[in-house]
Amino acid sequence: MRRDARPRNCREKWLLCELCSSELHSDGHPLLELGPWSQQKIFYLQRYADMFSTGMKNHWPTRAYIDLFAGPGIYRVRSSPDEVNDGSSLVVLKQKTPFTHYAFVDSDEGHVKALQARMANLAPGSQKKAFPGNCNDLGIVSQLLAFIPRNA
Ligand SMILES: C[S@@+](CC[C@H](N)C(=O)[O-])C[C@H]1O[C@@H](n2cnc3c(N)ncnc32)[C@H](O)[C@@H]1O
Repeated sequence: MRRDARPRNCREKWLLCELCSSELHSDGHPLLELGPWSQQKIFYLQRYADMFSTGMKNHWPTRAYIDLFAGPGIYRVRSSPDEVNDGSSLVVLKQKTPFTHYAFVDSDEGHVKALQARMANLAPGSQKKAFPGNCNDLGIVSQLLAFIPRNA
């Protein structure tokens, strides 16, 4: 099916959203198919998050990372389809000095389920939660505020 004819959200394994590869990854969940600029974005995000968490760990014992457009956790670049990379959420969950809290939001339930499965064994000492929903909704904002400690 043409990419622009696909739904906005992943519905079934045979009907994935316009942002995803048309086939599931080998773990049975969807993966994004992004432009090459994403590699740079994720590289700098990972460097910044790691510098922040390492630099602040002795000053701020509670540090929260929030990703409002989290995605399913992995992606491949359209021009190199054989190479699968960690997306923004997984690179930050794998950094050497973890945040104490990780909150992820995605409006696509298929992406949230994929991320939940992929993050299950990462940052084992941290509190992690993936919220399905539109990050502009007040309901989601309230859930984030309830999850993140006030002193974070
Ligand atoms: C480009 S992808 C995210 C890529 C991810 N940050 C990464 O680097 O691996 C954008 C994601 O945002 C989600 N999304 C789009 N609009 C949203 C909204 N209003 N609230 C929450 N998620 C949204 C999409 O379902 C998609 O998974």
